[in-house]
Amino acid sequence: MKKILALVLTLAMVLSLAACGAGAAPAESAAEAAGSAAASAAEEAAAPAADGAKTVGIAMPTKSLERWNRDGDYLKAQFEAAGYAVELKYSDNDTDQQNNDIQAMIADKVDLLIIAAIDGDSLSQTLADAKSAGIPVIAYDRLIMNTDAVSYYVSFDNYTVGVLQGEFVKNALDLDNAAGPFNIEFTAGDPADNNAGYFFNGAYDTLKPYIDEGKLVIPSGKTTFEQVATPSWSTDTALENMQNTLASYYSDGTVLDVALCSNDSTALGVAQAITSDYAGDNTPIVTGQDGDIANLRNIVDGIQTMTVYKNVSDEAGVTLDVAKAILEGKTPDGSLQLSAEAAYDTSSYDNGTGIIPSFLLVPWTVTKDDLQKLVDTGLYQWDSENKYLESVG
Ligand code: GAL
Repeated sequence: MKKILALVLTLAMVLSLAACGAGAAPAESAAEAAGSAAASAAEEAAAPAADGAKTVGIAMPTKSLERWNRDGDYLKAQFEAAGYAVELKYSDNDTDQQNNDIQAMIADKVDLLIIAAIDGDSLSQTLADAKSAGIPVIAYDRLIMNTDAVSYYVSFDNYTVGVLQGEFVKNALDLDNAAGPFNIEFTAGDPADNNAGYFFNGAYDTLKPYIDEGKLVIPSGKTTFEQVATPSWSTDTALENMQNTLASYYSDGTVLDVALCSNDSTALGVAQAITSDYAGDNTPIVTGQDGDIANLRNIVDGIQTMTVYKNVSDEAGVTLDVAKAILEGKTPDGSLQLSAEAAYDTSSYDNGTGIIPSFLLVPWTVTKDDLQKLVDTGLYQWDSENKYLESVG
């Protein structure tokens, strides 16, 4: 059974990769096709959703970023393999659409909702309706704010993601010993995404002592999250912003040592701007997060320096553990048996209505030298030339 499911997942990923080509975000229809191939084949393989099976509604933000395609595929396959029926919707990064999509799932009487919010502040009314209908809600990856309808939050330790990026820079430049000064620019994420501030703060706090002592300098003067935020985590916006920064502050030959980017979609744009518009002959350090295939290629090619990897197959697995317990009438807590390492946290995430109990998985740093770690997860493999990584499933 497991073998069949693995084959199905492999096939779906191969299809989606073939459809989008390495590096590009999957086209909506190709990704959908791959997703439904996985879904229908997984149904056959696992024979789930017998009459009376519970249904889980899954709301993902967008197909335009590789990671959410993975999340949706892994969640759907894992829940179906566990015998649940799944309704999976992507909302094209449009908050109105996400509200409508979730309303439709409430109308369909799903038994539980798993939501990665587009805008953490825009779902209060819809989730009040979910609560009235007695539907428990798990906030997936991104915390949903200002609603008392969220039962649990499953994510990674978001502040640590930023700390890992900051520490990477600190070690790479040997900031404790080198004389410096070094020049750095920050690119942060979407202000509507509650995670984005955590990523920025984790990185900035780690580097702040060196900024304060003048060993790290920010020539653009853009030191706050608001000044460097990137709506929708858009690659194009990150590219444009970096081009502007380079034109305004680096065209006189000023050296750029580090472009600290909060995630891979922004790193993609920033690396492109550096490749096309940066005149210096050094290779700036570029950070990222997610391990998207295009960025893993850039890491091999030396255009990006590191990424913070988040195993979203594990994130889906822990979400299943928590959902299953809720649907069995239990109250998940630190004693819950989990399929992957995650800390049970009851102090870090207050969504404005109180602390939301959280299960936080562990992110790690990946560089060119240890890409094999990704292969060891079973989710990636080397291509036929043993040069770049591709998805397994
Ligand atoms: C964050 C997520 C990151 C990244 C980003 C862009 O919320 O935690 O992994 O993917 O969104 O979608």
